[in-house]
Amino acid sequence: MNVLLLGSGGREHALAWKISHSKRVTKLYCAPGNAGTATCAVSQDIDILDKKAVLKLCRKRKIDLVVIGPEAPLARGITDVLEAEGIKVCGPSYAASRMESSKIFAKEMMGRCGIPTARFRIFDSIAKAKDYIRGTGLPIVIKADGLASGKGVVVADTEEQAFAAVETILEKKEFGSAGNKILIEECLKGEEVSILVLTDGTNFVHLASSQDHKRIFDGDNGPNTGGMGAYSPAPMVTPKLLKEIEDTILRPAIDGLRSEGMVYKGILYAGIMITDSGPKVLEFNVRFGDPEAQAVLVRLKSDIVDLLYATASGDLSSVEPEWYDNHAVCVVLASGGYPGRFEKGKEVHGIANAITNEGVVVFHAGTELDMRGRIRTTGGRALSVVGIGSNIKEAIYKAYHGVNMIHFENMYYRKDIAYRALKLYTQKSDDQGKKSGDKK
Ligand code: AMP
Ligand code: GLY
Repeated sequence: MNVLLLGSGGREHALAWKISHSKRVTKLYCAPGNAGTATCAVSQDIDILDKKAVLKLCRKRKIDLVVIGPEAPLARGITDVLEAEGIKVCGPSYAASRMESSKIFAKEMMGRCGIPTARFRIFDSIAKAKDYIRGTGLPIVIKADGLASGKGVVVADTEEQAFAAVETILEKKEFGSAGNKILIEECLKGEEVSILVLTDGTNFVHLASSQDHKRIFDGDNGPNTGGMGAYSPAPMVTPKLLKEIEDTILRPAIDGLRSEGMVYKGILYAGIMITDSGPKVLEFNVRFGDPEAQAVLVRLKSDIVDLLYATASGDLSSVEPEWYDNHAVCVVLASGGYPGRFEKGKEVHGIANAITNEGVVVFHAGTELDMRGRIRTTGGRALSVVGIGSNIKEAIYKAYHGVNMIHFENMYYRKDIAYRALKLYTQKSDDQGKKSGDKK
């Protein structure tokens, strides 16, 4: 079959890489793609927010399956347009995509379905929002209602930070109309995990668990980003916890959407805080996470097209993904200045060397080839380096070994990706050691 993948980030390079290994694919196209997807898919230079242009491309290339990477085309209703023409799409409808494109919609949906989440209030008035902040405790979370590339959330420790966030969103309109309304949320404490499932609207299958690193600086400090690194599996997701998440979050969300007439065929991503009173939803996304996808997809043993096609066809009942019994760690290499205004056009060195190491995979995100075939940065998150190992320590070592071989001017990356997981694994094995010692 012919497959079209939409997007141009690290997630899409990981998807293109995995889809290109499928036995079922005759031709893989990626629109618009990047310097990495160009090595495993044919790039198509179109605006993926232009629904007519995407449809025209599908007809021209006789596309059987469209896989949608980012949220923006979904939020504009690309799925509805393509499905109306009989094209199979892995990605939810416009109505269902509001689970991500409107945080207020998602909160109201969670309320109707009884899904545990942080307490919240909605504001469109700066004065009222500030009054509310004055009367409530800190820290507090301020969120733009609409899409903001992962940057529309501020966890404020002080009143000044909270006021500044309110002004940035409601007054300065930094996120445009996505910031016409804000949510002010209770700040949840705990360990954060990303749980992703593929759903056909009724059935769902789990993707491997993962954990993102949202903040820009080591030790989870500084402003939120799209994600600075990830690892898979996430050790805190035990089978018992997963069952609780299924029963209290995933099943109610999928059944709730269906019963309200919203077609959800695609990836449902629940960002969850494991609090002392159980798992609570931080956000829903309607697509693969980036950089979670990079860490998860290298661990997938099954043919991904079997899974994506079954999802798009509404028949996941007989498919179950298989995973390698290994660990993956993804470190994002960002351009100087990210997540603020960042530099572009820097020449990237060392990728070819890095990937000669076994267990090191490099996915491109914000990159392009210049006229002379040199790789240059174009985006805030330029590259993802993934290390794969039989344990977390080895995966961390491989990822940073790869990172150390790559260079561009003012390249920035976090040095502590997956170290919290390493600590948890070490604790677990210490505890097990103690237990078996006790028995002796
Ligand atoms: P979101 O885009 O809603 O997932 O928010 C981005 C990040 O902000 C999350 O991954 C969390 O780290 C943090 N966050 C969001 N909501 C909350 C909350 N209610 N309590 C604590 N942290 C939060
Ligand atoms: N890494 C978080 C996201 O993709 O939303």
